[in-house]
Amino acid sequence: MSALDSTDVLRPGPRGFGKWVAARITAAIPWGFGLMRRFRPILRLGSLYVVTLHDDVREVYRTDQAFRVPYKDNLDVITGGEPFFLGMADTPEYQAQLDAMRRVVRPEDLSMLAARAESMAEAIVAASSGAVEVVGLVRRVTFDLLAAYFGVPEPAVGRLDVWATRLFEYQFTGSPKDKDLRAQVDAIAPAFRAHIDAEIARRKARPDGRDDIIARCLALQAAGEPGYTDVEIRTAVLCMIVGGPPQPPMVVPQAVEQLLRRPAALAAAHGAAMADDDDRLHDIVLEAMRFDPLAPALPRRATQEWTVAAGTRRQQTIPAGATVLVGFASAMMDERRLPTPTVFDPGRRPYEYIHFGCGLHECFGRHINHATLHRMLKPLLARPGLRRAKGPDGRLTKNGIFAERLVVAFD
Ligand code: HEM
Repeated sequence: MSALDSTDVLRPGPRGFGKWVAARITAAIPWGFGLMRRFRPILRLGSLYVVTLHDDVREVYRTDQAFRVPYKDNLDVITGGEPFFLGMADTPEYQAQLDAMRRVVRPEDLSMLAARAESMAEAIVAASSGAVEVVGLVRRVTFDLLAAYFGVPEPAVGRLDVWATRLFEYQFTGSPKDKDLRAQVDAIAPAFRAHIDAEIARRKARPDGRDDIIARCLALQAAGEPGYTDVEIRTAVLCMIVGGPPQPPMVVPQAVEQLLRRPAALAAAHGAAMADDDDRLHDIVLEAMRFDPLAPALPRRATQEWTVAAGTRRQQTIPAGATVLVGFASAMMDERRLPTPTVFDPGRRPYEYIHFGCGLHECFGRHINHATLHRMLKPLLARPGLRRAKGPDGRLTKNGIFAERLVVAFD
């Protein structure tokens, strides 16, 4: 089977001893962050700097003039060299692209997306015979929901979830050394672009009255609005599908694993789901995510010298050319800004969380996430007697940056 028509959403990960070592390293990261916060909050390793405190993480994210996103080169491979705002500095082009997407991805869509996420998840849970694999559940719901919202059908050959997840992996972890990943991306990326081009062309030839993001973009194109050429629409929609849907199947199962470790929190989630208290359920799931968020850190590249935490004892001048790992997972455990960070507390205030980044590149999909992530778990959490499946299936496994498998059972 080729990269294009593969049905494996994740590439084969390490096995046996390699898998055990990878799991131990991942488990040690929060512990290492704890030591750094205490003894070396801004750690320097040659030209690499690791920033761990809440205030400093926010400072680096918010100082785009000195700390730029390093995503452009990999994005160019995916988009065929077309610019997308995730890879840009704060320029007029960045703002124009962002505005173009904000005109079509609208706040009034959120309640519809939330309701659909819940009903799609309910259909899957109801059709199960008392056991559900959570990563697969969240992946199915997210891709079906967001692919329909953006207006991208499944390709005739291949699968959107496989294509998007492979490109996401390349976008955020791809290195020139990983020749296998690059070869897969070189097959998938042009096919994905052609697939969206064909959909745009089909819509223009035979408008079908649908209301989705591609249709809204084409309506603005027809009205002569700037920012909506066919290539601009294709690039934005491609990058949204690559950047968005692969992430809920990472963080939402991780949140379930955290709830399963805390019977009181799981009982609270069950109560909120049964009572249709979506706000409370949202807060519980967001708090569960804090104990195992998307990643330990996100990268930035210093483009000019900048002193982080200037005027404090920990101040550190970071030179141009350095790489900075911005430890947002660590920031969400920083006792200087979060009261009792090791306690599971769904009553936290919004600023305590940095799940979706902050500053210039704060997640474009954050409102969609706040509306939908807990709703796709609600049907499962509402089931009585929710528990781990017996044996290894009932423990969350990971494969590189991705959550891989977690089976739960209910009465
Ligand atoms: C669990 C779900 C998600 C998580 C945890 C997440 C997390 C993030 C984070 C941390 C960033 C900032 C990256 C950085 O600063 O380096 C980001 C940016 C972004 N996200 Fe999300 N995201 C999620 C879902 C989505 C969805 C569903 C979409 C689209 C519908 C989306 C679209 C984007 C885009 C376009 C950016 C770039 C924003 C910019 O450059 O201004 N994300 N996301």
